[in-house]
Amino acid sequence: MSLVDVLRGHRVVVTVGSGGVGKTTTAAAMAVHAAMEGRNVLCLTIDPARRLANSLGLDEMRTSEQNVPPSLFARHGLECKGALSAMMLDTKRTFDELVAKHASDDEARDRILNNQIYQYVASSLAGTQEYMAMEKLHEVRKDPKWDLIVLDTPPTSNALDFLAAPERLIDAIDSPAMRWFLQVFEGAGKEAFGLVGRGATVLLKGIGKITGLAFLEQVAEFVGGINDLFGGFKERAEQVSDALRSPDVAFVLVTSPDPLAIGEARLFSDKLQDAGMNREGIIVNQVHALIDEPSVSTGDQVIALGNVLPESIDPAEIQPRLSEALRTERAWARADRVQVERLGDEMGDDTPIVEVPAFDQDVHDLGALARVASYLTRTA
Ligand SMILES: Nc1ncnc2c1ncn2[C@@H]1O[C@H](COP(=O)(O)OP(=O)(O)O)[C@@H](O)[C@H]1O
Ligand SMILES: [Mg+2]
Repeated sequence: MSLVDVLRGHRVVVTVGSGGVGKTTTAAAMAVHAAMEGRNVLCLTIDPARRLANSLGLDEMRTSEQNVPPSLFARHGLECKGALSAMMLDTKRTFDELVAKHASDDEARDRILNNQIYQYVASSLAGTQEYMAMEKLHEVRKDPKWDLIVLDTPPTSNALDFLAAPERLIDAIDSPAMRWFLQVFEGAGKEAFGLVGRGATVLLKGIGKITGLAFLEQVAEFVGGINDLFGGFKERAEQVSDALRSPDVAFVLVTSPDPLAIGEARLFSDKLQDAGMNREGIIVNQVHALIDEPSVSTGDQVIALGNVLPESIDPAEIQPRLSEALRTERAWARADRVQVERLGDEMGDDTPIVEVPAFDQDVHDLGALARVASYLTRTA
């Protein structure tokens, strides 16, 4: 099995891994590849990075779908037989849409949307972004026009948090503390809040400037409002969570060859499997290439350097430094090799493991993404 088979055999491909390993880059590269092969592809990203927009030849990432025109492919000598669209996730808007969908009427909807606690939860509560990424995925995958959806996951500090996001969010909203607030509010009447309020305000300081009674009213309204749509919301989160386990969803782990990153990837792989999610491939990104030793003598190297360096630079002085740099680079490459091979042995099964070399420059245009894709789609 190769990564090409994984892309061809699934409708949703999700890149997961630690921050900075290349999730966004490889997600975009896979999307580019599949679009060039002829499929109608949506690249759904959480990363607002201009870099990615630029790489795809777009001015900016938008929160609605945006087509990458075939002429941009042509500019890099590439042919796009299918179509590629990109879309950036807007956490708050996705949450608002979810509320609107489940609220019993317009008044109930507005009560929640205008609530300050809601606004905090929807935009700042840890885990909301992760959950909404999945929520959006759930929504777009209902649209039959997409042959493939590639989802890039958020730059979560702990990649494992991502998978637990739907359950976590429900737990937070459905927590005993929230229910307690609601009960106290409804049971004791507003007068009781002068007392309770002080403690609670200290506890939930992060929520902002609102204090005392006003604050508690907001909490109660939020919890009451969420309860109103809770049946639908909880059910929805369960659907979203289940949908991630369906056979047409493939998770691709992205890691660097760094032993720490590999360790995390291994752990993450186990978690995915424990959770019943399909870990279908592994990308080891930014691998140091093993550069050959020079085939000529030191003396000849000095002569060759003399031919290319300006006269003010002594080639005999530069040569040992270049040799040293090459030795270091080769040591890195050998260390990377050991890591990748060990990972391969451990995975043991037919999970494709593909390597992408570290390029001299950031991946900054469609040509570079296609180049990344050419490594991703290599068959052993
Ligand atoms: N193989 C590579 N060679 C060189 N630079 C790379 C490579 N892969 C990714 N990069 C660069 O590394 C940075 C981080 O990559 P990114 O895809 O944003 O990581 P993540 O989404 O996992 O945080 C970006 O600037 C990207 O251009
Ligand atoms: Mg990213």
